[in-house]
Parts: sequence; structure tokens; C-alpha cells
Amino acid sequence: MRLADARRDYYRRLAKQKGYRSRAAFKLTEASKKYGLIKKDDRVIDFGAAPGGWVQVASELVGPRGLVVAVDLLPIELGLDNVRSIRSDVQEAAMAPRLREFLQGEADVILSDIAPQVSGAWDLDHYRQVELTMVVIRLMTQLLKRGGNAMIKVFQGERFSEVCRILKEMFEFFAVTKPKASRMKSSELYLVCLRRR
Ligand SMILES: C[S@@+](CC[C@H](N)C(=O)[O-])C[C@H]1O[C@@H](n2cnc3c(N)ncnc32)[C@H](O)[C@@H]1O
Repeated sequence: MRLADARRDYYRRLAKQKGYRSRAAFKLTEASKKYGLIKKDDRVIDFGAAPGGWVQVASELVGPRGLVVAVDLLPIELGLDNVRSIRSDVQEAAMAPRLREFLQGEADVILSDIAPQVSGAWDLDHYRQVELTMVVIRLMTQLLKRGGNAMIKVFQGERFSEVCRILKEMFEFFAVTKPKASRMKSSELYLVCLRRR
């Protein structure tokens, strides 16, 4: 077995053992530990949240007085008291007011692991993923509080630096990361953004 396959299997088994919906959960755990992304009592929005690994991790980190609002085209049912889910396209026009109503105000943290169904054609997948990411960034400008944090997935490609430039301007701290649970072969990178200006 190749090393990459062994690592993927390791995280898949670990997710099962710990009761996480996906091995993606470990990407958020790793970044949150390293950067202190999510705190107790925070209000978090998670875009592209199904099947819910990140939601489970965020729910643990914010605790019973925090809130996680999960948005996805697919349903997410986790039975957690501090989680609300919205089954919708992020591009839907009423997304920002709907989210504001759920949060009763602004968010402390925005997460996005959003990705279209991949076709295998890198350029096309990159463009479609960046389009969705730009929608998330627009929503972030309307919903994230000053001083708030974010972690955003982006597929590498031509428009990667454009996304980085926008986020660098928006936040005091910015870092590009590749969590251990992310497949080496995949083009995804995660942008950790702290303290919105
Ligand atoms: C890699 S998965 C997210 C995994 C998740 N972070 C976890 O921990 O389980 C990407 C998600 O983005 C969602 N997605 C893709 N396009 C979307 C859109 N236009 N609106 C909302 N969600 C979308 C997909 O349905 C998919 O569930």
C-alpha cells in the first residue's frame, strides 16, 4: 500500500473510532489547536458542512452556550443541541439575512470546506471552487464580526493568489496550511485567517 493510501485509511479509521462523520474533522482539529481558531461560546457558520465532521468538532469547541450554523445543499442531521442546519445553496439570495436571523447578530468564526462535485479536470474544478469561495467571502464581509476568525478551503490554480490577496487585506493574520489529514495529491489548501480588521 502506498504511504498516501495508508495515511488516508488511518484518518478514516480514526474518524470511525471517534464517531466523526468524516476524516475532514481532523483538519479542523489540527488548525484549531495550532491557531486557536474557535473558542468556547463562539457563534460559528460552517459553509459546505455535510456530512458534518467539522460541525461536530466546532460543536465540541464552542460548548453548550455556543452555536454552530451548518449550511449545505445536503441535509445534516447530527442531533446536537448547539447546532442548526440550513439546507440551501450558498448562492441563494436570502442567505445573509437568513444567517443573521439564526445567529441573532454577527458570527465569531466562519468556516468553509465548500467544494463542487469534482470532475477531475483541475482547471474547471478550480474555477468552480473559487466561484463558491468568492460567494463565501462576500457573505463573510456581511456576517463576520470585527476581530473574528476564518478557515477557508481553496483549490490551487490560477485564481489562488487573488483569493489570498483579498483575505490578507481583510485580516491581521493570514497563513496557508495543508493539514495532515488532507490528501497530498489533492489540490486543496486551507487559509487560516485571524482577527478581522
Ligand atoms: C468536502 S465536503 C465538506 C466536508 C465537511 N467539512 C465535513 O467535515 O464533513 C464539501 C461540501 O460542499 C457542499 N457544497 C457544494 N456546493 C455547494 C453550494 N453551492 N452550496 C452549499 N453547499 C455546497 C457539498 O454538498 C459538500 O457537502
